[in-house]
Amino acid sequence: MRKNIVAGNWKMNKTFSEAEELIDQIFLEMEDKSFQCEVVICTPALYLEMATDYAEEGRLKIGAQNASEHEQGAYTGEISAAMLASLDIEYCIIGHSERRKYFHETNQQLAEKTDRLLDYGVKPIFCIGEVLEEREENIHFEVVKKQLEESLFHLNKDEFSNIVLAYEPVWAIGTGKTATPGQAQEMHAFIRSQITEKYGKETADEVSILYGGSCNPKNAKELFSQTDVDGGLIGGASLKSDDFLAIANSF
Ligand code: 13P
Repeated sequence: MRKNIVAGNWKMNKTFSEAEELIDQIFLEMEDKSFQCEVVICTPALYLEMATDYAEEGRLKIGAQNASEHEQGAYTGEISAAMLASLDIEYCIIGHSERRKYFHETNQQLAEKTDRLLDYGVKPIFCIGEVLEEREENIHFEVVKKQLEESLFHLNKDEFSNIVLAYEPVWAIGTGKTATPGQAQEMHAFIRSQITEKYGKETADEVSILYGGSCNPKNAKELFSQTDVDGGLIGGASLKSDDFLAIANSF
């Protein structure tokens, strides 16, 4: 059975003390609750070591937001997969649309980043999704298919089984304009069908596909009840412990 996952993407928010306060709240609120999903928080890189202390003590899992495609060396400002692994970081977001847009990350480069993470046993939370114009032109399925083919479908079956996918329609990110549960299900089912074609039904049934884009405590339950939606990648609402855990409680 595939895993349900709710992952918070903090993006570039919170000072160190604010981050500590938020993770502390999340940790304490989780203590006396049970969840039908794995709860992950993806903090800014600078806070990962602090965050792993909480992961060691509880059920909280920790993720990074980006990693380099290079092994090591003269890449000022970059963080390698080996560095993440050395802190026992379990997950790393790769290919977020903000990185594709502002840092011009390409499908090829994202394939290399994925390879580095897998080399070091860090699980990629790999983001795919179309921009508004692509949906309006009705080419959103093609766009997502190309992202899968160019960044992930070089992996063998075993490698692919370590991938978590996040479908994030770019027009829904930070806009308050959530995809309808029907739109999310339609795309998630399409993604799973592509995985079935490439790797077979068994692998496709095991891969968690998260939805991201203006997910909040009000709409999470309906989104997560869709057959092929296995949780969420949460931006804004992950910055408040109550909202984030209400979403994690929506299964
Ligand atoms: P919002 O939840 O703020 O729309 O962000 C989604 C996102 O980009 C998560 O990676």
